[in-house]
Amino acid sequence: MLRDADISLFNTVTGSKDPGAEALMQKVDLPIPEAWSLLFREIAACPGCVFMLGASDTGKSTLARFLCSQSIEAGFRTAFLDADPGQSIIGPPTTLGMLLPSAPPQTTERLGWDYLYFIGATSPANHLPATAAGVVKLMRKAEEQGARMVVVDTTGLVTGATGFELKFHKIELLHPQHIVAIQRAGEVEHILTAVQAGKGIKIHRLSPLREVNIRSPETRQAYRQQRFQEYFQGCACRRISLDAVAFILPEPFLAAVEGQYEGLQGHVLGLNDADCFTRGLGIWAGFDQQRNPEPKPKPKVALWPVALWPVALWPVTPWSEPPSGSEVMVRTPLKDLSDIRYLLLGETTFTVIE
Ligand SMILES: Nc1ncnc2c1ncn2[C@@H]1O[C@H](COP(=O)(O)OP(=O)(O)OP(=O)(O)O)[C@@H](O)[C@H]1O
Ligand SMILES: [Mg+2]
Repeated sequence: MLRDADISLFNTVTGSKDPGAEALMQKVDLPIPEAWSLLFREIAACPGCVFMLGASDTGKSTLARFLCSQSIEAGFRTAFLDADPGQSIIGPPTTLGMLLPSAPPQTTERLGWDYLYFIGATSPANHLPATAAGVVKLMRKAEEQGARMVVVDTTGLVTGATGFELKFHKIELLHPQHIVAIQRAGEVEHILTAVQAGKGIKIHRLSPLREVNIRSPETRQAYRQQRFQEYFQGCACRRISLDAVAFILPEPFLAAVEGQYEGLQGHVLGLNDADCFTRGLGIWAGFDQQRNPEPKPKPKVALWPVALWPVALWPVTPWSEPPSGSEVMVRTPLKDLSDIRYLLLGETTFTVIE
């Protein structure tokens, strides 16, 4: 393989607002192919949004990180937008994340974040509106903060109707200047054919490098568990009054709610601020309505998150509001919950290993 340079890469945490994200100083040697350097030069000639597209294990994230790093070194204010809630680089699983690194993120592992958006699951497949909302909100933040280059890393979900819908509409929403398409045998050509009908998008086609590892489902699962475990390290049990937040839950959990919330143990929660950005995650650890055991009259109308759950699940379902004074017990590393305005229930569960 042609090499521009063999560079030593170090893991660092930059920009994290969360003490749970810790630096890992792990040295990695990554050979940089000539094709990557050429690609960056082409992108730098027309800076803007760079959209990574490819099936799983094609090297999207590794190349995205390189492009981000080169962009910062070239002097562009640069954002890394991680639209993968599963094998994510930025933020814990179940979230999308955005980071404006102050130094080149020449790493293969942990990065911090500036903004997170909770999806509630580790795949976007059943959460397309939430994913679209998150990507747009994070992109707006990057632009507001002066990013000239925004590298958007994505999941490997590119096949079938869902893969097409997700990627086509995400590209529609973001209007990237560049699509970096990494494919083995034309897996994303159907998406490229559709988007290149539009104007102004430069498509760069690459093949995956030989060095790219194919990861088993078990390895992927282990990665997510490790990321969660790191995130929840040192978390404490805190109480959130349901009077102080909008409690947002998907329909499959309404039955659990009627059953005094028993079925919600271990579910991951998004703790969102007034702008509906995710300040942190929690884990449902209990429900306490001791302060006012009298239930409110039924039925009430479910608070239903248009941006969070598929339209197919839209029916407005009666449910009983939790009694005034009810509190949710949440295990979270967040210490200050005063800014939390939304409590979003995710479908993913996690058990913290003490
Ligand atoms: N240039 C490279 N040299 C060595 N290893 C690499 C290189 N590119 C990727 N890898 C390794 O291959 C694996 C997959 O790469 P990467 O995570 O970048 O793929 P991806 O397309 O983002 O995958 P996913 O769709 O699951 O997010 C990782 O273990 C990564 O460290
Ligand atoms: Mg990736």
